[in-house]
Amino acid sequence: MKIAVVIGSLRKESVNRAVFEQYAEFNKDVFQFEEFAIGDMPLYNQDIQAPDFIQQRAQAIADCDGVLIFSPEYNYSVPGVLKNALDWWSRAEPQPFAGKPTAIIGASPGAIGTARMQYHLRQVGVFLNMRLLNKPEVMIGGAYDKVIEGKIVDDGTVEFLQTHAESFKQFIES
Ligand code: FNR
Repeated sequence: MKIAVVIGSLRKESVNRAVFEQYAEFNKDVFQFEEFAIGDMPLYNQDIQAPDFIQQRAQAIADCDGVLIFSPEYNYSVPGVLKNALDWWSRAEPQPFAGKPTAIIGASPGAIGTARMQYHLRQVGVFLNMRLLNKPEVMIGGAYDKVIEGKIVDDGTVEFLQTHAESFKQFIES
């Protein structure tokens, strides 16, 4: 199964990127992951046509079997850089997220691990007609104690991510 990955943090030491890398490592026999960059996109402007590279990425996402979004929460919501990418892709043809099995995973040092971001992102996903996995919800709180030097050191988190991967696979197949 080909899975398009979008990461809502641009920083090198991102815990969300680290969670993605571990998730990809654990599930490399089941999923083939392709990350789609968002940091090089201009700010959305309805006056300009989408640059070709944005359109090409939209097509490549549309060709995948599912989408996984790993993202932090910024100011109780979706990071602007991620929302900007979704705004660009929402205007592309084909619509890359329409009917696409999509799951959200987030990690934060705070107690509720991106819950507020995830519910805002779900609202955006309704307009994009994403087919969102409802459960399990993966909201990794206290992430600075669970992800150290790019590795998940908490066994419960590893197990939970594997439960998620199995559910996501079944969701795509259903
Ligand atoms: C944050 N952070 C944060 N954390 C949280 O749980 N809820 C929030 O609303 C916010 N808001 C917020 C805004 C901005 C502008 C920054 C830079 C940070 C903290 C955030 O969770 C922390 O920096 C994470 O490490 C970011 O994720 P990555 O980059 O490590 O993946």
